[in-house]
Amino acid sequence: MKFDNRVAVVTGGAGRIGRPLCEKFCDHGVGVAIADLDLAKAEEWAAHLRAQGGRARAYHFDVTSTESVNAMARSVLDDFGKVDILINNAGVWKRQLISEMSEEFWTMHIDLNLTGTFRVTKAFLPGMQAAGYGRIINLSSIAGEVGLPYFGAYSAAKAGVIIFTKTLAMEVARQGITVNCVSPGMIGDAPDPTKTTWVERWGLGHEVAELLLFLASDGTSYITGVDHTIDGGRILGPRFADVQ
Ligand SMILES: NC(=O)c1ccc[n+]([C@@H]2O[C@H](COP(=O)([O-])OP(=O)(O)OC[C@H]3O[C@@H](n4cnc5c(N)ncnc54)[C@H](O)[C@@H]3O)[C@@H](O)[C@H]2O)c1
Repeated sequence: MKFDNRVAVVTGGAGRIGRPLCEKFCDHGVGVAIADLDLAKAEEWAAHLRAQGGRARAYHFDVTSTESVNAMARSVLDDFGKVDILINNAGVWKRQLISEMSEEFWTMHIDLNLTGTFRVTKAFLPGMQAAGYGRIINLSSIAGEVGLPYFGAYSAAKAGVIIFTKTLAMEVARQGITVNCVSPGMIGDAPDPTKTTWVERWGLGHEVAELLLFLASDGTSYITGVDHTIDGGRILGPRFADVQ
């Protein structure tokens, strides 16, 4: 995979998927801004990557605040001079039945997962448009593709992320900018066994990071507006013949 002196911003970069992604970017010579609500975790990871020779810096920001997003974007652009790759990865998901859900709970999920993606994209898009180059990759979820009981607000937000991705892809296609979406299934900290995926285990953050890295690379300019599922076959179809 080729990266020509690129700079990436990874929101939620201190998390389960963000950390291995930032590491892979550093391994490929990409400068990385680790932007996260948890500054201590982001700084710890940035220091770890710098110790391995990577170009990584940590930034505190809150994806629910336009002011905070714009301040983070200004700092990243001041430090790195440009941003070629944006990974909209910050997200939260909490359990609640729709019948018992408060409007506040609903609004929090939409604001953080969907409007947050819009906010950060708005902050970095003008620079990409001026440069005539960009890779934007948004994290959705299989919950946003097929729905998930107890996670109705999260699922609705992530479904919105998919359509946001496709719409933006069409709007900026002639400006050298690709916009794609990655929808993971069950991603954990270990490949624990489970019968709910066809590969019979949980997925790992570094496996999602591998797909994100590929989509962020220079050679993918003909891939845009696509929702890429990565779920060990979780939503392929029901299992019954070989499962008790
Ligand atoms: N882990 C899974 O099973 C799974 C499945 C499908 C989709 N996803 C999506 O992948 C993305 C990353 O998931 P993960 O497993 O790495 O989660 P994670 O909880 O490990 O990491 C999320 C990161 O986002 C940060 N964050 C939370 N609120 C924030 C805010 N207001 N502003 C800025 N940063 C904030 C957290 O501090 C954390 O570092 C999310 O968008 C999630 O919805 C995850």
